[in-house]
Amino acid sequence: MMPTREDVLRALAGVKDPELGKDVVALHMVDEVEVVGGKVSFKLNLTTPACPLRTRLEEAARAAVAGVPGVEAVEMRTGSTVYATRDYSEAEVLRGVKNVIAVASGKGGVGKSTIAVNLSCSLASSGARVGILDADVYGPNVPLMMGVTGPPEVKDDKVVPPVAHGVKVASLGFFYNEAAPVIWRGPLVAGAVRQLLTQVEWGDLDYLVVDLPPGTGDASLTLAQTVPLGGILIVTTPQEAALNIAAKALAMFKRLNVPILGVVENMSYFVCPHCGERTEIFASGGGKKIAAERGVEYLGEIPLAVAIREHSDRGDPVASAAPDSAEALVYRDLAYKVAGMLSIVAFAQSKR
Ligand SMILES: Nc1ncnc2c1ncn2[C@@H]1O[C@H](COP(=O)(O)OP(=O)(O)OP(=O)(O)O)[C@@H](O)[C@H]1O
Ligand SMILES: [Mg+2]
Repeated sequence: MMPTREDVLRALAGVKDPELGKDVVALHMVDEVEVVGGKVSFKLNLTTPACPLRTRLEEAARAAVAGVPGVEAVEMRTGSTVYATRDYSEAEVLRGVKNVIAVASGKGGVGKSTIAVNLSCSLASSGARVGILDADVYGPNVPLMMGVTGPPEVKDDKVVPPVAHGVKVASLGFFYNEAAPVIWRGPLVAGAVRQLLTQVEWGDLDYLVVDLPPGTGDASLTLAQTVPLGGILIVTTPQEAALNIAAKALAMFKRLNVPILGVVENMSYFVCPHCGERTEIFASGGGKKIAAERGVEYLGEIPLAVAIREHSDRGDPVASAAPDSAEALVYRDLAYKVAGMLSIVAFAQSKR
């Protein structure tokens, strides 16, 4: 007996996305099903090109269809349509931007910018359309880390973000290239952040990563109040002092109703560039502990590695410059987890 379209869909309904807890048919991931004799072709459309379970889902879908009685050949095309955590097509601010991800911390200098930059590069290399917005009022250094120099082009009163490593880049430094006022007062900070959100021509993006200044000050507040955030990533180092402040930042974003994507522990351990030995300079495991205490996801740890700093200093982020290095793989893992978490948030909100 020849297989039917219904047989194929029934088989695919047995393939579950473990992250979203539903099957691929219910999630509208299956498209263009064609059955001709014993030949089946279909498209599997994932929720993000940075899908952490990509290979597993693809293999499971192919196997399910191949297992339908009468099926002789399976042609599976794959693609992705990123889920959105905001009403991007109608939005007044950041129209066309599906997801805004903020990178925050309690303490300064814990590696937010480094994470924001490498996360952006990893997401972009998965095939997603990505931008990075440097909202650090105290020391906007994303352009340096991304290797962007010179003032950006301005067209029809809008800043055209330069593209570096496949990522669109805009920074407060573009608007305030003189040494920033030592003390930024609230209204000034809010105005500057709003300027970045409204006066940059971001175009259509799957992900906009926002690098925030440390703490829970005006920049974070303005951002959270101006655009619905897909989620926030809290960066901490393993030391007790950083952890306490990270917990406070977490609590503030929770109060603002911003989804918490999770906690990342940076500078968790040191990998000797000579012998490869792993040393825990600070007590590790703190990030995991506060994540568990606060009931949020723990997204993993990033080593303290010379290559990470050197690449950033050179304006050539390790995630983009050396994509097969151990360091880049750590960021890729993080990027995939973040993309997966956002799909979950988006799915819960059903703003696809
Ligand atoms: N995992 C890492 N391994 C090695 N160096 C790192 C790592 N993460 C960050 N650094 C380095 O630590 C310094 C501080 O990092 P970064 O600027 O990303 O922190 P930040 O949290 O954004 O700081 P600020 O609060 O000032 O904005 C930089 O010189 C950066 O290259
Ligand atoms: Mg920074």
